[in-house]
Amino acid sequence: MARQKFIAGNWKLNLTIAEGTALVAALAKGLAEKPTKAEVAVCPVALAVAAVAAAAKGSPIGVGAQNTHWEDKGAFTGELSPVLIKDAGAKYVILGHSERRQYYGDTDALINKRLGAALKHGLVPIVCIGETLAERQGGKLEQVLKTQITGALAGFTADQLKTLVIAYEPVWAIGTGVTATTAQAQETHAYVRSVLKGVVGGLADSIRIQYGGSVKADNAKEILSQPDVDGALVGGAALKAPYFLAIIAGAG
Ligand code: PGA
Repeated sequence: MARQKFIAGNWKLNLTIAEGTALVAALAKGLAEKPTKAEVAVCPVALAVAAVAAAAKGSPIGVGAQNTHWEDKGAFTGELSPVLIKDAGAKYVILGHSERRQYYGDTDALINKRLGAALKHGLVPIVCIGETLAERQGGKLEQVLKTQITGALAGFTADQLKTLVIAYEPVWAIGTGVTATTAQAQETHAYVRSVLKGVVGGLADSIRIQYGGSVKADNAKEILSQPDVDGALVGGAALKAPYFLAIIAGAG
């Protein structure tokens, strides 16, 4: 099944509102000059989502948030809800990024709740999974990924998960300049798809699995050419228009 490549930028806690709107304007200009067949999104800091979404209007660039609470509203100081994310003009939400798991206590059970909220409000979820170096070296790669996938997706039907995107991001490759080899990426993505098959059956063939972890202009094309690599979730290299545009160009 043909899967449209999906390149998303995860801006993390970077860029001011003015810098974010300028970046999306530069990306829109670049894509107008050199259109892509890929789906493209940027995920700014929550406070910049509305302004970046407004600046992206009329361009092929979608906007996403980097996390969501599971409730629509209430006494949850400091949180943001899927209702507000949609209200701000976003279409996507990243869930379970390894930095959230590492620093903010995100567990598979919490990610499962966040996923429910995202789906309820029609946000396209990008669910992140990935192993640490110790887990990979300790032979636990498959067990870790399977636990993360089944935990995050527990209780949902294939029909509910139609829009799901998975981002496979080996923790040891995030922000380190070390990428998985092309063979490691393909092998792991194929494994992720096999686990997805066990959970959602035939839908697994149409779920996009992005690779993330030090994706750069010079390695994007090769990684994206792998049969089970359906896109990229890009951190550092998504913060400068020429770099991100070059990665998008690598998707064809
Ligand atoms: P990186 O981050 O591209 O800077 O390694 C990727 C991510 O964390 O999504």
